[in-house]
Amino acid sequence: MADWYTTFANSGFGTTLTKQLGLPRPAVLRRYEPGQPLLPGPVVVGSAGKGRLRDAVTAVLRDAGVTVQSPATADGATDGERLGAVVLDATGLAGPGDLASAHDFLAPAIKRLRPSGRVLVLADPPSDADSPAQAAARQAVDGLVRSIAKELRGGATANAVFVPEGAEASLAGPLRFFLSGRSAYVDGQLLTLSPADVPTGEDDDRPLAGKVAVVTGAARGIGASIARVLARDGAHVVAVDIPAAGESLAAVANEIGGTAFQLDITAPDAASRLIEHLRERHGGVDVVVHNAGITRDKLLVNMDAARWNSVMAVNLQAQLDITQALLDDADVLKPDARIVCVSSQSGIAGNRGQTNYAASKAGVIGMVRAWAPEFAARNATINAVAPGFIVTEMTAKMPVGTREIGSRINSLQQGGLPVDVAETIAWLSQPGSAGVNGQTVRVCGQSMLGA
Ligand SMILES: NC(=O)c1ccc[n+]([C@@H]2O[C@H](COP(=O)([O-])OP(=O)(O)OC[C@H]3O[C@@H](n4cnc5c(N)ncnc54)[C@H](O)[C@@H]3O)[C@@H](O)[C@H]2O)c1
Repeated sequence: MADWYTTFANSGFGTTLTKQLGLPRPAVLRRYEPGQPLLPGPVVVGSAGKGRLRDAVTAVLRDAGVTVQSPATADGATDGERLGAVVLDATGLAGPGDLASAHDFLAPAIKRLRPSGRVLVLADPPSDADSPAQAAARQAVDGLVRSIAKELRGGATANAVFVPEGAEASLAGPLRFFLSGRSAYVDGQLLTLSPADVPTGEDDDRPLAGKVAVVTGAARGIGASIARVLARDGAHVVAVDIPAAGESLAAVANEIGGTAFQLDITAPDAASRLIEHLRERHGGVDVVVHNAGITRDKLLVNMDAARWNSVMAVNLQAQLDITQALLDDADVLKPDARIVCVSSQSGIAGNRGQTNYAASKAGVIGMVRAWAPEFAARNATINAVAPGFIVTEMTAKMPVGTREIGSRINSLQQGGLPVDVAETIAWLSQPGSAGVNGQTVRVCGQSMLGA
């Protein structure tokens, strides 16, 4: 479901009116439904430089039932064969001169992109370059992709994945995610993979079958959506929230066949109670989503200690304490566990009146980066997701002007939905995301804030 303005702007009368008034006409985004094909049209895969990933990419796509075209075939394609996605293998760029072939490939291919199409560029990380010229060419991918994302219309997105030498096996899961409807509101992002032991043969429709997942703050909003999506993907969900939210927590847990667990995550015994519950009732845990969060906004000069401390306690300290307790316990956290922490765009861009909130959410980003090597050593991962403007009950209560501006200042010209955050978290929770570690993925439609 799109927001009211997007629905209106795409109706017959709305289309005419928005055109006449020169107002933005945000697209209805292609969002994932189980059983849906990966893409609604063929993909063209090209390369710039001595690409080493093209064959592997083609194999993954064919395996997913996608028709793969070479650039030559795509040049002759008719309008009836508009492209679902354009993938550029830009690994092996030696210097800025090689970038001209990126332009030569992308320009005609992007013209043929369908609404909600995907542009994905694969490159080597600039930090591993052998020379300044090579680093320059690799870094150029950053500006190229962010600009393409800003130029695309019709709900199409552009993202980049940096694939270091040795991390090729980590690519399949991220490739499928960025091309699919699961990444509808992830735009203008750059992800860096790590080498990892990646399991194969995952069931795309139920990648979390047999897994136990904890979601904090699951009684409503984004947390309830995360719980629903993880359950849809096959997980048994332990839905956690404060006792005061017990009734709605039970409703969410019942709806998805999960377990409700009332817990204030800031209580001194929160981690030990949660661990005992997971050990006794579920035999351990595979996925932990630290979603619970609060705001207590005031300008810094007017902020009392209670506002500062409560936000830090829920948004950051509880995530640190529970994760540390899970790591310290010998057997509750499964070896290939996935931890996903909810940060925020405010933690990247800052926000007036939110020094406490933004500091806590920036802290989450530092925490996952610092913990990544320890998790990698267990074949586990820890990542963060930073939502931008997400349409929830909270945003519905904002004054209309603030809400409309807040939701439109991104490349997709609309707010995201809780399910967009949930899909990204569900993807990071999959076994196939083993090579995504210590990263922060923004789910913000390429918001102009903090970009
Ligand atoms: N809504 C947005 O646009 C947006 C944007 C960026 C980040 N986020 C983040 O996403 C997460 C979810 O946001 P939301 O909009 O769904 O919020 P929400 O207020 O609707 O839900 C948060 C849930 O967390 C629970 N919670 C609060 N304190 C708790 C505690 N001590 N122990 C256990 N549970 C507790 C609440 O009871 C509630 O059910 C938060 O971390 C928030 O900071 C939201």
